[in-house]
Amino acid sequence: MTTAGRAACVIGWPVGHSRSPLIHNYWLKHYDIAGEYRREAVRQEEFAAFIGSLAARGYVGANVTVPHKEAAFALSQPDERARTIGAVNTLWLDGKVLRSTNTDVEGFLDNLDVCAPHWDREATKAVVLGAGGAARAVIYGLFSRGVERIVVANRTASRAEALRHAFGKRVQVAEWNELNAELADAALLVNTTTLGMQGQPALAIDLARLGRHATVADIVYVPVVTPLLAAAKARSLATADGLGMLLRQAVRGFALWFGKTPEVTDELRALVEADLNASK
Ligand code: ATR
Repeated sequence: MTTAGRAACVIGWPVGHSRSPLIHNYWLKHYDIAGEYRREAVRQEEFAAFIGSLAARGYVGANVTVPHKEAAFALSQPDERARTIGAVNTLWLDGKVLRSTNTDVEGFLDNLDVCAPHWDREATKAVVLGAGGAARAVIYGLFSRGVERIVVANRTASRAEALRHAFGKRVQVAEWNELNAELADAALLVNTTTLGMQGQPALAIDLARLGRHATVADIVYVPVVTPLLAAAKARSLATADGLGMLLRQAVRGFALWFGKTPEVTDELRALVEADLNASK
């Protein structure tokens, strides 16, 4: 089969907010590939049947978003990283086998490498806020790049404890009110909570204790410059934003489905940023 005429989609409920169609259709056009990328609004109870009939529907693969990331994991053949994380966002058909992975890992790492080159030079310790699926992907990525110790703080302490079980003793659990002390020797601070997102409460954290070589990353991308990133920039710290991660997590899916590794360009970033601003 040639790549021409291939189709992929993003499956979610709701799915209207997903920027994946904008990103993948930009690349299809840019590389002159005769494929399609669509949105599929699928309810939780219909999800298993839907992905069971992906090929019959003409799809070579899909992205999955809320609330299907765990169900997609259970219904596919996840790779090693997805098994550790317990959630997938990218599916592809390998013959009759539906394989899956979690591309938030490289989305996060590639973005850090671009925004803060050498962030990992002396990155012995990181502080991660939040303990959901995104936190798992970030923690997996940081350990894969040699970070030795990760301190996790989460509103619901039991979820942070669960991460310690999943990743072992290199994960330490901290209370929110212990964060100031934890920041002093951290090379990296990552927000994976929804705090700071448009319409959500602000993330109350004081960056004064972070060292001047520290990097601050946020996975929130609405707004693109979150109050956390603005505070980091005001202190002249290196920052990595959620939009960059969103764009870079899309690269591998496109390569798997359409046979071309696409580039994340300034033009694409501006296109998605304009779309985010237009829907405010
Ligand atoms: P994802 O899979 O995208 O990480 P998630 O599992 O819903 O999404 O995780 C959202 C994260 O934001 C969690 O760490 C959540 O904290 P809880 O585990 O206590 O729910 C965090 N979060 C969301 N709203 C929050 C709030 N108002 N205050 C503090 N943390 C919040």
